[in-house]
Amino acid sequence: MNETLGLVALGGALPVAWYALASAKTRLELSLAKHRSLAGHPRMARRIAALMPEYRYREDEAFGIDGAPADIVARRRAAFTQLSEQFCTRFARSAALSAEAESGISDMRFVSAYRVPFQFRTLASQLKGGSFVQATRGVTVTDLDGNTFYDLTGSYGVNLFGNDFYKQCIADGSALVGELGPVLGAYHPVVADNVFRLKEISGMDEVSFHMSGTEAVMQAVRLARYHTRRTHLVRFCGAYHGWWGDVQPGIGNPVRARDTHTLKEMDEATLRVLRRRRDIACVLVNPLQALHPNVNAPGDSSLVDSSRRAAYSRESYTRWLIQLRKICDERGIALIFDEVFVGFRLAPGGAQEYFGVHADLVTYGKTLGGGLPIGVVCGKHAWMKRFRDNAPADICFARGTFNSHPYVMGAMNAFLRRLDTAPVRALYDGLEDIWNGRARALNQRLTEAGVPVQVANFSTIWTVTYTQPACYNWLFQHYLRLEGLALSWVGSGRLIFSLNYSAADFDAVANRIVRAALAMQRDGWWWHNPALTNNSIKRRLLREIAREFFSRKIVSRVPI
Ligand SMILES: Cc1ncc(COP(=O)(O)O)c(C=O)c1O
Repeated sequence: MNETLGLVALGGALPVAWYALASAKTRLELSLAKHRSLAGHPRMARRIAALMPEYRYREDEAFGIDGAPADIVARRRAAFTQLSEQFCTRFARSAALSAEAESGISDMRFVSAYRVPFQFRTLASQLKGGSFVQATRGVTVTDLDGNTFYDLTGSYGVNLFGNDFYKQCIADGSALVGELGPVLGAYHPVVADNVFRLKEISGMDEVSFHMSGTEAVMQAVRLARYHTRRTHLVRFCGAYHGWWGDVQPGIGNPVRARDTHTLKEMDEATLRVLRRRRDIACVLVNPLQALHPNVNAPGDSSLVDSSRRAAYSRESYTRWLIQLRKICDERGIALIFDEVFVGFRLAPGGAQEYFGVHADLVTYGKTLGGGLPIGVVCGKHAWMKRFRDNAPADICFARGTFNSHPYVMGAMNAFLRRLDTAPVRALYDGLEDIWNGRARALNQRLTEAGVPVQVANFSTIWTVTYTQPACYNWLFQHYLRLEGLALSWVGSGRLIFSLNYSAADFDAVANRIVRAALAMQRDGWWWHNPALTNNSIKRRLLREIAREFFSRKIVSRVPI
């Protein structure tokens, strides 16, 4: 009798134990597929961010934070005084209007605070260049003081063919739809032509129009969840897909993104998770990450040392995408290429054409609007359908008031028609070789000049790296500005070239980058002590943060 009961109990316990073991294994696999950095652990990153105390270097300590001797500190101080005087005189009007407007423009308040590491904010507040500009021509932009800069901002990536190109797209598009005006709901006929062209470009069956890249990504993910009836999206560590909560599970999003897995890119452990889990609806790929897999977008506000690295290998990234494609096919997972940034920049057919890998859904945005706001999803019929024939109440709703706005559709049409012309097609001839060659040549010049600066590039998207441990690299963006180079708020983290940069334009930019680096070196900011390493800088920062934290006894009251 006892034996029988024992067998029955064992029979019941075995499946439970089996289930527990299997779930532990699945959890372990998920943990192994997370990147070891904080970017790979969004919840922990958010907790730590909430505890990070604010503190700033006083002026008397800010110039020698790396332990530089007195003569170097004095040289830096004198150079900084000169730098700030130059900023005051050269950018007076732009800076004055920015100062006046800043308190009322939340975006401006944010970016002006986050241009440099927070410890240096007091110092950097003396280097105000201003956020207002008045004109563009060719590859240049002019500020309110009449200073003309080479435009390396790329307008967040929108500016692919030069600002004049988009001015023309907007003018041509407005003329095309002007008779109808801003009528919404019904379509201007130009929409049909846009859809025809986008189907050709993407190789897909259907298109939906939205007002931003963020919205397009939201819609692509929603469709993937609807059709797979699964909950989770996979995004890769460090990848940006807009500011919607589900694709921004860490710092920046006050609530937890429960249905998001953030996994390591280009890693076998991730493939194992994709092969085994049953909750995954889609995998989101932002091909821009090929330049710095698993790392957040590089910005100078985190440039506290010289550990920023970047390197792009077309072969490795292509191999990775092929592996993803295969597993997504096997597991019925939607592979989504988020081409909002890189679409049209790498090839006329976007990343799909460039890497030779096809996605299930593709999102576009930025440049495709011909200079106006846009987000687009393209996909096969099966993925794009928003209702079920056999369950009419079960719909996947997505409509927006301004979707297919005639003026946006007009500018997009002008963009797409021009994309098809011989002069624009010619811009793609040998594009990658040209820009790789330019990066190589500049790196050679920087090496010959003996400055600790290099660049890494993914076609026309560049980032600056620093080859020697240093605490003041964030200042380089200001030297570049004085040399007449306009950078976006992430500073030297991302330089974006438009395809209309001629060899002469590029040479002028390269000369200025070298001059700026030489000036920064001359001013003592790259004074080097062999004992200074990136790790020793990080250790010092940790000590400062701990001191600040404990001295103020800061306790986070932010619920996580
Ligand atoms: C890859 C990617 N996806 C989505 C977005 C969001 O687009 P938007 O800013 O138009 O909402 C961006 C914006 O930078 C992006 O780079």
